[in-house]
Amino acid sequence: MTDPVRGVRRTENADLRTRNTFGVRAHAPLLLEVDDADALPEIFGRGWADTGSMVLGSGSNLLFAADPQQTLLALTGRRVELLHDRADVAIVRAQAGADWHPFVMWTLEQGLSGLQNLALIPGTVGAAPIQNIGAYGVEVGESVHAVIGFERASRRLLRLDRDACRFAYRDSMFKQQADAWIVTAVEFELPRKPALNLDYAGLGEELAAMGIASPTPRQLADAVIRIRRRKLPDPARIGNAGSFFKNPIVPVAFASKLQAAHPSLPVFRGDRDDTRKLSAAWLIDQCGWKGRREGDAGISEQHALVLVNHGNASGAELLGLARHVAASVQSRFGVSLEPEPRIVGAQW
Ligand code: EPU
Repeated sequence: MTDPVRGVRRTENADLRTRNTFGVRAHAPLLLEVDDADALPEIFGRGWADTGSMVLGSGSNLLFAADPQQTLLALTGRRVELLHDRADVAIVRAQAGADWHPFVMWTLEQGLSGLQNLALIPGTVGAAPIQNIGAYGVEVGESVHAVIGFERASRRLLRLDRDACRFAYRDSMFKQQADAWIVTAVEFELPRKPALNLDYAGLGEELAAMGIASPTPRQLADAVIRIRRRKLPDPARIGNAGSFFKNPIVPVAFASKLQAAHPSLPVFRGDRDDTRKLSAAWLIDQCGWKGRREGDAGISEQHALVLVNHGNASGAELLGLARHVAASVQSRFGVSLEPEPRIVGAQW
């Protein structure tokens, strides 16, 4: 019998099927649910977890291609609090286990803005900075004030300011050094006076359809929710992890050449002046994948970027389909696609 650690729940041979939004079957040798991040030094000190252990959020950006061999840690603390409240801006702190969308709605109820374009993204607060979640022209990194993380090597909780997080498109220092940190809480700096980002194609049209000319942050969130519900399959109804591929970032000259050959290819601003972002959905759609399936692994009928589990697909089967999709885009357009979710148990 293992002595308990306060606030930590241990499950051996843990069933992960309901812990990944693809709904694939997988088991972990050990799952530790940690309510209080202060217990992490003891967990590592006892050897229950080590540098190879993996953190599990709500499993919405994850594909188990095989059973994980390592210990899984889930941070379950969900506290949300206002740290500083000034006339112009507030600092809000949320523990890693808080669900993202209810947290966004809570900030809006407090009269705070900044996160409205990120409404309805699945996942937890702790996962948000790792891949710098983004939607409708906004990335979470823009609102992050600091991240509190457990540094595995030193077994200490440290506070990292926004610059130290090195946010980029669907990327951060935490994703680059995947096994070095455990995000335990995130602090956000949120203005009271909204600066709304309405640039994204479709957002203005949605607001117009709602009869709204100058939206409040809450109304903008409602427009985003309407678009997401219409465009993206609901993981509660059909297993998926949102966009399965990142939009590829390519040199500007390559983007121009491709667009000259394919004038309807959507091209967006890249991460630098000399790069452009291409629409992976468009490339996949052109290759005829939308709505296709191989067994129970499929490409959504609603959105070409979303891989779906029609029922009993294994993680390996979903990965196999994703590789076929990427190979066809490579051979037709010369563009290599990279997966957005974390893949466990296989190399891309
Ligand atoms: N398109 C197609 N076929 C489709 C879907 C889209 O050709 O089936 C084309 C359309 O021309 C459309 C363009 O692709 O104009 C872009 O589509 P969309 O607006 O849906 O955005 P996206 O680039 O496919 C990105 C994010 C989403 C985010 C939306 C909205 C990535 C990898 N994906 O998708 O994020 O919600 O923009 O901002 O950056 C996620 O990361 O899981 C995710 C869903």
